[in-house]
Amino acid sequence: MALRSFHVDLRLTFFLFCFCSSISSHNAQDPTTKTMEEFSGYPIHEVESFPSTSIPSISVDVETLQRQIEELSTFSDTPAPSVTRILYSEKDVLARRYMKNLMGLSGLSIREDAVGNIFGRWDGYEPELAAVATGSHIDAIPYAGKYDGVVGVLGAIEAINVLRRSGFKPKRSLELILFTSEEPTRYGIGCLGSRLVSGNEQLANALKKTVDSQNMSFLDAARSAGYAKDSEDLSTVFLKKGSYSAFVELHIEQGPILEEEGTSIGIVTAIAAPASLKVEFEGNGGHAGAVLMPHRNDAGLAAAELALAVEKHVVESGSIDTVGTVGILELHPGAINSIPSKSHLEIDTRDIDEKRRNTVVEKIHQSAMAIAKNRRVNLSEFKIINQDPPALSDKSIIRAMETASQELNLTHKLMISRAYHDSLFMARISPMGMIFIPCYKGYSHKPEEYASSEDIANGVKVLALTLAKLSQD
Ligand code: GLV
Ligand code: MN
Ligand code: MN
Repeated sequence: MALRSFHVDLRLTFFLFCFCSSISSHNAQDPTTKTMEEFSGYPIHEVESFPSTSIPSISVDVETLQRQIEELSTFSDTPAPSVTRILYSEKDVLARRYMKNLMGLSGLSIREDAVGNIFGRWDGYEPELAAVATGSHIDAIPYAGKYDGVVGVLGAIEAINVLRRSGFKPKRSLELILFTSEEPTRYGIGCLGSRLVSGNEQLANALKKTVDSQNMSFLDAARSAGYAKDSEDLSTVFLKKGSYSAFVELHIEQGPILEEEGTSIGIVTAIAAPASLKVEFEGNGGHAGAVLMPHRNDAGLAAAELALAVEKHVVESGSIDTVGTVGILELHPGAINSIPSKSHLEIDTRDIDEKRRNTVVEKIHQSAMAIAKNRRVNLSEFKIINQDPPALSDKSIIRAMETASQELNLTHKLMISRAYHDSLFMARISPMGMIFIPCYKGYSHKPEEYASSEDIANGVKVLALTLAKLSQD
């Protein structure tokens, strides 16, 4: 079968001028411009270009990349088209093996840390310089799609292949990172691997005592997957600030803007601030027929009331950028004829404005206490699992991504990431940037998630050229 590839010649200084002007005028009319500028602090009108990097051609083998996306999606605990790949499960271990094989085939030297972050390095001709890193995750929440995270890992391998095929030799080493557990599914904390890489002592200590819903400890689960073998000390995962000169993540947008506008590339200026909370109520329970309404203290109704309070507090922030979700709501003992004696909620709330997000968290806490009092139940737990600040992209990486998009003749816009990513934590130890590509109707975290071959190829091209530029810096 003939290899279908997207091929672009890069002698495009001419386009640079044309695109600078068309992009400026496009952005000037964008209604989100003001918010973005306020949040990110970057003016989005002037585009100062990054020096041009001479690469003879950029040719993405998108057929192979699509086949790999399909193959990786088969390592799943739920039927296609859904993908469920939970940290350290059998399918996760098999998927990791698949990825390490591909990394080896791309000539990368592989190392894994104590929690299973996987690093693949292409040595530059000045290997003592801090490397340029890229990567994402391959774990998938229950009933997810094929593209979240995966595009940033398989796409990064292809970006490295593109550069190798073009004869490019990096000055700084290039490093691909496959992060452990970007999703919070098993141990309740998102970006577990990248949080640790960024040096989070509190998490390294907490994980020694953390168990999953089946009471399996994090360390036992890690050991079952071949990690954390020699010691309980997870601080070995920490990397020093300055270990990388740049970190760039390629990801599907997970929102509808790029597709709706027909724009090929999103250049992320900042990542919104996520927080997650765990709440438990305890009542007396009892017989659903025999206990009369005035005598009940129903932990289930307390949870229901709190779920509605979350929505109220989020909406009353007055900003469309404030969001809140009760994604987990469990009742005990879970029988139709038994008044719930315990309830458990997990709440996710985010905003591009950290202060406003923190106000919502505080109001949720006040409501939880008031509801417990009114309903005569006990608020047995109110725990803030994480309450992260937002992260800003690095200006020179933004410039490199813009210049790469211009040289590739791709339409692009500056935008905010409302989803969180490993980049949020890599920004703590390295200058960071993110490249978004459109996805069908903005769908994500569901089986209908989809990105076209052409959009994926565009993202890989921008990533390859950006890495090339940053590696020569
Ligand atoms: C990442 O998966 C997120 O929930 O934003
Ligand atoms: Mn996700
Ligand atoms: Mn993701």
